[in-house]
Amino acid sequence: MAADFPRLGVIGAGKMGGALVRGVLAAGLTTPESVCFSCARAESRVRLAQQTGARAMADNVQVVAESDMVVLAVKPQVAMEVLREIAPRVAPRHLIISIVAGLRLAVLEKVLGQQTRLVRAMPNTPCLVGASATAYCANQTVGPDDLRVVEQLFSAVGDCLAVSEGLLDAVTGLSGSGPAYVAVFLEALTDGGVRAGLPREVAWRLALQTVWGTAKLFRETGWHPAQLKDMVTSPGGTTITGLQVLEQGAIRGTVMNAVYTAASRAGELGQLVAACFSQAPAASERT
Ligand SMILES: NC(=O)c1ccc[n+]([C@@H]2O[C@H](COP(=O)([O-])OP(=O)(O)OC[C@H]3O[C@@H](n4cnc5c(N)ncnc54)[C@H](OP(=O)(O)O)[C@@H]3O)[C@@H](O)[C@H]2O)c1
Repeated sequence: MAADFPRLGVIGAGKMGGALVRGVLAAGLTTPESVCFSCARAESRVRLAQQTGARAMADNVQVVAESDMVVLAVKPQVAMEVLREIAPRVAPRHLIISIVAGLRLAVLEKVLGQQTRLVRAMPNTPCLVGASATAYCANQTVGPDDLRVVEQLFSAVGDCLAVSEGLLDAVTGLSGSGPAYVAVFLEALTDGGVRAGLPREVAWRLALQTVWGTAKLFRETGWHPAQLKDMVTSPGGTTITGLQVLEQGAIRGTVMNAVYTAASRAGELGQLVAACFSQAPAASERT
């Protein structure tokens, strides 16, 4: 167990917040007694508490009071209300980590104060099975010890890396939205197998293992994608014939456009979230 891992509080322990609670406990970073969380509904709280042994709380302010590191994992439309609620109780000991999509550091600083140690992170859905791709950034107040803890937290649910905040919209377009792109590719691969005569369950199993196995191969070998492509395309063979069809369908340009357009949309949504928060009182205006 990491002896110096801070007491963790998760506000909004739904799919992502709940996965973080499970992840830190499964990784042995801390004990259930040192983790508390809140959700809106009593049944959600009871379920996660029973599954993990972590302490469920009905009150977000109590979560802040009983933790040193707070993860904000509510939906964007609830975030302002929750931030206003907890702001008066955020103290210098707290490290605040937001995974709320589109909620920028400048907005968090406005509500919680520039002196507050703030991290903005973008995990993705494979967080639910400990295989997230998470990118994060931090404000100026965050120190090296905080960053080490952030790395421990997100490494407990997958891979994580630091980026500058200006890149988080691009991260959202790639790894944030990426699981849905891969899901569509997997489904299409399966449908192709069915079209070619395979029973659906056989096609699904082969498609799934092919995508997973190929990702594993790249991770373990460090190969460039073109290396594998060149290796498996024999002259006049089946694979080069299939690739020709994908290239005729402009698969590369289509996927690039999907990432780029989703990243642009993430930027637009971030501006909308910032506009919603512009009515919020600044930390210095709070009584
Ligand atoms: N899902 C993803 O792949 C993903 C990826 C990156 C970032 N995110 C971000 O992560 C955040 C959470 O997403 P999610 O998919 O985990 O959503 P979710 O499953 O709906 O979780 C939200 C949680 O917030 C709780 N909640 C609602 N109002 C609350 C309040 N006033 N105080 C405390 N808790 C409250 C809900 O309680 P109940 O369970 O009782 O309803 C629920 O547990 C979002 O901001 C999203 O942008 C999600």
